[in-house]
Amino acid sequence: MPKPKVFVTRLIPEAGLKKVREACDADVWSEPLPPSADELRKRVAGCDGLLSLLTERIDGALLDSAPRLKVVSNYAVGFNNIDVPAATERGICVGNTPGVLTDATADMAFSLLISAARRIVESQKYAEQGHWKTWEPLGHIGQDLVGRTIGIVGMGRIGFAMAKRCHGGWGMKVLYHDLHPNATAEKELSATRVDLDRLLAESDFISVHTDLNDTTRGMFNTATFKKMKPTAVFVNTARGPLVVEPDLVEALQQGTIFAAGLDVTDPEPPRTDNPLLRLPNCIVAPHIASATVSSRNAMAEIAADNLIAGVTGQPLRAWVNPEVAARRK
Ligand code: DGY
Repeated sequence: MPKPKVFVTRLIPEAGLKKVREACDADVWSEPLPPSADELRKRVAGCDGLLSLLTERIDGALLDSAPRLKVVSNYAVGFNNIDVPAATERGICVGNTPGVLTDATADMAFSLLISAARRIVESQKYAEQGHWKTWEPLGHIGQDLVGRTIGIVGMGRIGFAMAKRCHGGWGMKVLYHDLHPNATAEKELSATRVDLDRLLAESDFISVHTDLNDTTRGMFNTATFKKMKPTAVFVNTARGPLVVEPDLVEALQQGTIFAAGLDVTDPEPPRTDNPLLRLPNCIVAPHIASATVSSRNAMAEIAADNLIAGVTGQPLRAWVNPEVAARRK
């Protein structure tokens, strides 16, 4: 019996790729840049499965160009690049990779928080450019961390892991904003669920861990930055379009807030003339929060398992749209 045909849109760690190659007839895109929309359409046309990245837009039109497609397995926990209702409508399963990048992402959020608060990247550039002439009693003054208040927007797995670092390690008070209460955070971290305005007004650090959807898109804008403290540090390791970037630029330039640490931008990559890349009080990393050996290997394994389950009619290990089960292709 011929193996199911799948398209894998980038080289992923061998831990997952090996499984895919063993179980499937795999076409693997090995270029460093993603396939164009046209190329993706052509490659996926005769496929039973697609292993995609967050760089690929998977919409109804693409799904229609692949009549045999049974599964889209995203190599990411986030799936805002996929039109999930369109997939469900067509009987196509969607998988993601939750749980295995929680600590790596929370570590990144905390690194950005402490680096932006203590002006580490700006100071490194200062030293590198030869401006370091003496010890400066008034230079490079940043924000204290111990005993301050962290505001978590989105108290899911990653938000909780970030709050745990801030509370356990640095004795911070935890405020959070989420549609749903998180009893564990309230019990273990004494976290308090508040409305967004209170979180913005009372937090010294604001770390974003919410999904990108029609409600959250652009939720950080001039109005919300103005509600933050002028000493606030804003951290985003979730998705770039949660922020209206020109508004963030203005808030950083005008001192409405103290600093920002970003692992995500809108678009990605940012244009080379994006002012965020040049502002001394902004750190921009190229979406690397999950980039640790164990996280990326585990993501590859789950994505492979989801893909293989999808093409063989099994339940997906991490299933975004389990409601499709009864009428899956
Ligand atoms: C995700 O998984 O959604 C991250 O943004 C990339 O690992």
